[in-house]
Amino acid sequence: MKILITGAAGQLGRALTAELAAHEVEAASHQRLDITRLDDVREAVAGFAPDVVINAAAYNYVDRAEHEAIEAYRVNALGPRNLALATAAVEIPLVHVSTDYVFDGGAGRPYHEFDQPHPLSIYAASKFSGELAVKELNQRHYIVRTAWLFHVHGRNFLSLMLSLNRQPPVKAVDDQFSSPTYAPHLARAIAKLIKTQAYGVYHIAGQGGTSRFEMTRLLFSILGLQTEVVAVPHTEFPAPAKRPRYSVLTTIQDPQILLPPWQEGIHAFARALG
Ligand SMILES: NC(=O)c1ccc[n+]([C@@H]2O[C@H](COP(=O)([O-])OP(=O)(O)OC[C@H]3O[C@@H](n4cnc5c(N)ncnc54)[C@H](OP(=O)(O)O)[C@@H]3O)[C@@H](O)[C@H]2O)c1
Repeated sequence: MKILITGAAGQLGRALTAELAAHEVEAASHQRLDITRLDDVREAVAGFAPDVVINAAAYNYVDRAEHEAIEAYRVNALGPRNLALATAAVEIPLVHVSTDYVFDGGAGRPYHEFDQPHPLSIYAASKFSGELAVKELNQRHYIVRTAWLFHVHGRNFLSLMLSLNRQPPVKAVDDQFSSPTYAPHLARAIAKLIKTQAYGVYHIAGQGGTSRFEMTRLLFSILGLQTEVVAVPHTEFPAPAKRPRYSVLTTIQDPQILLPPWQEGIHAFARALG
């Protein structure tokens, strides 16, 4: 299979490039392909002639988006729209990755694929707009919502906690809940998904829900770190962007896309740290 990956230098982009190494992959970093430029996107698709495009590019600065809305919408909505136009024109599928933050957290139970999104922040609204553009413009779409992504290469919550380990105690929020997802686990599920031609929306995230406090405690205990981890409410870290209190993801789709429990992702992350 010929596969074009956009945003290939990010956490998921790297994991996908490794997972799909047996295929003919064009791993296009931001530097190589800017998805906000329609002509460049069309040229990349025409030049490489992929069988499928996977969009792992995104503007992920949740708080900064509150005052950089145009940039967030350009990357998270216009970019996927460009990819949808370019892939639809040559009748190939597009995998687009979205977020648990499209939900407002008010349901008080895990969200499935047919729950109604209601974004609370500009980042979340820009990601939801990207989903809608992809749905509208390329019917061969896989929209994959994931959550709290982490990888040993990249900017994520766990790497932040490890960097703070030198200044104990480490504080972590215990009143917001989602589904921590190890990027290589997600990449493996996407590799299966692209063979199915079962287009639609998928929730693919580490199974079960937890807080950032519990994630940190588990990681530190696996690594044998003695650092005290203190549970705090989210109000301890005032942030410009509103976040859902409970955006745990569940799926009612094919069981082959089920990921291992989130704890296994933390163990795999700790092993990969070496
Ligand atoms: N990280 C999370 O916790 C999380 C949670 C839920 C959903 N997601 C979604 O999962 C997907 C993968 O996230 P991730 O954590 O792997 O993201 P990431 O590590 O931030 O990587 C995103 C990549 O996109 C690139 N990029 C930004 N603007 C671009 C543009 N205009 N054209 C092409 N590339 C561009 C970035 O390059 P530069 O750095 O050079 O700009 C970066 O390499 C995204 O759709 C994200 O919204 C992530």
